[in-house]
Amino acid sequence: MNEGGGSGSILTASRLLIIGLVAVIVVLGMALIIQAIARPTAAGVETRVNALATSTDECVACHRRTTPGIVEQYGVSTMAAAGVACRDCHEVPADYPAAVEHEGTHVLPSPTTAMCQKCHGQEVAQFYQSRHSLPAYVAYAGTEVLTPEHLALYEAIPEAEQGPEQMRSVLFDLEDKRLTRLACEACHSIGLPAEDGSVGKCQKCHLRHEFSLEQARKPETCNNCHIGPDHPQWEIYQESPHGIAYMTQGDRWNWEADAGTLTVNDFPAPTCAICHMSGFGPTGTTHDVGDRLTWYLFAPISERRPAWEDNRVRMQGVCRECHNANFLNEFYAAADEATEAVNEYVHESDRIMAPLIEQNLLTAEPFDEPIDFTYFELWHHWGRTAKFGVWMQGPDYTQWHGVYEVLSDLAELRELAEQRLEAGMTGGEGAASGDGGAGSGRPSP
Ligand code: HEC
Ligand code: HEC
Ligand code: HEC
Ligand code: HEC
Ligand code: HEC
Ligand code: HEC
Ligand code: HEC
Ligand code: HEC
Repeated sequence: MNEGGGSGSILTASRLLIIGLVAVIVVLGMALIIQAIARPTAAGVETRVNALATSTDECVACHRRTTPGIVEQYGVSTMAAAGVACRDCHEVPADYPAAVEHEGTHVLPSPTTAMCQKCHGQEVAQFYQSRHSLPAYVAYAGTEVLTPEHLALYEAIPEAEQGPEQMRSVLFDLEDKRLTRLACEACHSIGLPAEDGSVGKCQKCHLRHEFSLEQARKPETCNNCHIGPDHPQWEIYQESPHGIAYMTQGDRWNWEADAGTLTVNDFPAPTCAICHMSGFGPTGTTHDVGDRLTWYLFAPISERRPAWEDNRVRMQGVCRECHNANFLNEFYAAADEATEAVNEYVHESDRIMAPLIEQNLLTAEPFDEPIDFTYFELWHHWGRTAKFGVWMQGPDYTQWHGVYEVLSDLAELRELAEQRLEAGMTGGEGAASGDGGAGSGRPSP
């Protein structure tokens, strides 16, 4: 770097470089120390006690060597502190379904809901009443694959079924199974039946092995599934005033407060879990996520749920901790009207399609011509998004990803339908037979 210089100036240069580096390291180090002292969360993390630090339990002792991460994570959990052992979730009798032989006993590699149920009967019972359980599985697999016991459990859920078109998704049958198991099934397995007959995966929300309340309460937990063009609840939440409060101030909220005791002092604004699950104000904690809903918003044409008025009382009980009655009545009245307005747009799309169906001008196959996709996306993506945007305070989703796209699809549908009527024939072979093929009805979601 120094053209004419001898070894002396190289030495000086490298000495300067070293001094410079040391200075940078010292400054950076001090900055880090200051940051660590200033950040309250960092201090909180360090105070966590590992309840298994001195455990002599066989499973723990060996797994401390073989899977130290698991022991470390479980060690800081509330359950470990309460004395719940590895065996409580993993150990089963030899003849238990899916048991594997392990170190002189038998274990489940993936503990089922039945294991949690031993100690958390109430959470499991509520979960079983919800659409997160069997209905989520039936959404792609259909009811035909259910055992008689599961069918009975499914039919006992008041909100299980919502019209025959909701029964089973055509897309699941249509798409390559090598893909659907990593797509539909990845999300809908929240309600997957296990070999032992119990249902669902609690670990979809309670990530192992910390089983932390903070993690389950944070909205990112839900965005594993509640995301994307057809159910963008996460995106909507992010643009809502509630989501903005979470993102700008959430690091100060009381994430680990005991369940059932939460107040506005712990959470000045709600997350998904607060509105849909947490005990807040007069409303009790629930694992039935349908317990506070008034409409079937996911349906093409939204209808009221059974017991919707009681559900509304429970949801508004949460809102009432932060908003007054007038504000809420006006909000609910406006949101009800907006829901009905989306219903009318979807009815309109049905009217456009009706003559094509009557005159057998659609192919028998679903999702094999562009008009099928337009007709589907109109309600499945944009109509739903508009409704979700309305109910969860996301105006951009109500407008530009919602009603505007509905209008655009209506225009496209009209043009496609007119062309088809004029041509008076189907686009290709496989014209619908007299009964009106699967392609002519509204495809399932
Ligand atoms: C002597 C050591 C040792 C003991 C004792 C031990 N484990 Fe393991 N365990 C292992 C090793 C090693 C593996 C990983 C095996 C592998 O990777 O295939 C394992 C795997 C597991 C698995 C995953 C099994 C699978 O098929 O995926 C579970 C669950 C498990 N252990 C639970 C337990 C429980 C519960 C106990 C106490 C009843 C226990 N272990 C006792 C060493 C041990
Ligand atoms: C509260 C219940 C619970 C307790 C207690 C528990 N586990 Fe687990 N464990 C689970 C669940 C749930 C899974 C994940 C199953 C899945 O996602 O398929 C799991 C998975 C595992 C696996 C396989 C996962 C992998 O990534 O390889 C091992 C090994 C394991 N646990 C060991 C342990 C050990 C050792 C302890 C005690 C220190 C323990 N578990 C305590 C519920 C529990
Ligand atoms: C042997 C009994 C037992 C089993 C089995 C069990 N738990 Fe627990 N669990 C407890 C106890 C006791 C607590 C309460 C700890 C406390 O609040 O002091 C608890 C607390 C929890 C909490 C709240 C954690 C917190 O920080 O307050 C969650 C979440 C949880 N369990 C989930 C599960 C899941 C999911 C399973 C099944 C994979 C499971 N538990 C299996 C006994 C059990
Ligand atoms: C990213 C996760 C995810 C994927 C992938 C996914 N879904 Fe869903 N699905 C959801 C969520 C979340 C809802 C609930 C929407 C609501 O209630 O607003 C839902 C709702 C549904 C419904 C309507 C509710 C019912 O039970 O009638 C059906 C049917 C459905 N999905 C089937 C499928 C099929 C079939 C696939 C694959 C072709 C699929 N889903 C892929 C997350 C997913
Ligand atoms: C959709 C996500 C989700 C699923 C699935 C889920 N939980 Fe939870 N769970 C939560 C949330 C969020 C909380 C915290 C509620 C609150 O804020 O008070 C919680 C809290 C709990 C608690 C502590 C409650 C208390 O009163 O102390 C237990 C225990 C628990 N869950 C067990 C389970 C079991 C068992 C399952 C499976 C049947 C399950 N959870 C499935 C989200 C979920
Ligand atoms: C692993 C995927 C997954 C996760 C994680 C998940 N959900 Fe869901 N959720 C679904 C699916 C799938 C459905 C639709 C089930 C159906 O109707 O077929 C659904 C439906 C719902 C519904 C509508 C229930 C009804 O009665 O129509 C609500 C509300 C909901 N979820 C809230 C939540 C909240 C809050 C969280 C986070 C605490 C969450 N979910 C986490 C997959 C998930
Ligand atoms: C301010 C409270 C609030 C928050 C925060 C909130 N929701 Fe909602 N959510 C609602 C209300 C209100 C409805 C519509 C209720 C009805 O039908 O009466 C709704 C509807 C839903 C539905 C539609 C169920 C159906 O009928 O198809 C799902 C799914 C859902 N929310 C999930 C979520 C998820 C995931 C989050 C976080 C990303 C979230 N919500 C955040 C209040 C909230
Ligand atoms: C824990 C407190 C809390 C709860 C619970 C709560 N909110 Fe809010 N809400 C807020 C805060 C904070 C704001 C932002 C107020 C502002 O704009 O200054 C807000 C704003 C709103 C807005 C104004 C939206 C806008 O675009 O200006 C609506 C509408 C709303 N909430 C509806 C609801 C509904 C409906 C529920 C129940 C399903 C609910 N909130 C539950 C705290 C809460």
